[in-house]
Amino acid sequence: MLRRLYHDQPASFAFTPANLDWARAQMTKYPDGRQASAVIPLLWRAQEQEGWLSRPAIEEVGRMLDMAYIRVLEVATFYFMFQLQPVGSVAHVQICGTTSCMICGAEDLIAVCREKIAPKAHQLSADGRFSWEEVECLGACANAPMAQIGKDYYEDLTADSLGALLDRLAAGEVPRPGPQAGRFASEPAEGRTSLTQGDASEAHNASVALAIALGDTIRRIDGTETPLRTPWQKADAHAQPARQNDDLLGPRGMTGPTPGPKPGKDEPVDDTGTTVQEADAEDVARPAEGDPAPGGSQPAPGTGPRPTDGHAPAGSADGDSPPPGEGREGARPGPSPLNRTDD
Ligand code: FES
Repeated sequence: MLRRLYHDQPASFAFTPANLDWARAQMTKYPDGRQASAVIPLLWRAQEQEGWLSRPAIEEVGRMLDMAYIRVLEVATFYFMFQLQPVGSVAHVQICGTTSCMICGAEDLIAVCREKIAPKAHQLSADGRFSWEEVECLGACANAPMAQIGKDYYEDLTADSLGALLDRLAAGEVPRPGPQAGRFASEPAEGRTSLTQGDASEAHNASVALAIALGDTIRRIDGTETPLRTPWQKADAHAQPARQNDDLLGPRGMTGPTPGPKPGKDEPVDDTGTTVQEADAEDVARPAEGDPAPGGSQPAPGTGPRPTDGHAPAGSADGDSPPPGEGREGARPGPSPLNRTDD
């Protein structure tokens, strides 16, 4: 679809003070010289302010971000979320026309929009309160056909239910978003066949419950919703101290960092006085597989009788082999995993 600037442009654009503060704060998220990374948030806030993106708005964002206008225009014309012409003051209805929705009746929904709003997409209704367009898949295919109105999805629509939704919006109501045919979420239309326990106590799925709680389906962001915070900026006097490396923080309840990684170099691991370095060095004395044990006359580790479960080795009763610990100074059990005893 060809997307180009609207033929009738306003003379100028300026962010409201609240939106300007917010936009400037967004720009500080990025390193010097990389402010262009804020182009989509700024364009979005400009659209929320005006309802659509005018050429002056695109140019203002370009000025703020030190971007060539054409670069900002590229972004604005590429993403369908940006409206390049005026939209209805109450709601802009986006009907998904992709495969699942098309099979399930999207054309019927579009017919309703043509009848109730305007004959053509992107055309304002006679009273200027509504507009509509067909969009590509919005990712709610299991609940086709569907429409996005404002910030929320309306799913499992029919021509009748969409018509009723538009009537309620025109009357100043905000209908409940989500599935409109009685489904909780996207379970089979005839009901669940598995995982039948669980959600029966909830009136709405989480997405619908949140939409109802926020109640901002068709409301535009104006900057007063939440206080402006810039936690990524830490240079001012009231800022909290920089977060410390979690690896160096002590257990919960301990204040201040621990002295550092444990054990420190040349410091004992515990009260035996052994350091990690010394513990590693002990392995040097362990004969390699097949080498004679220190002392020469002893059997190579792993070749002689092996103690099992801490009992005397087989054959020790007749004196053929020394009991464990005798006559084996310096020798250690061989490297077999069966008799290896790491310290
Ligand atoms: S095809 Fe309509 S939401 Fe995916």
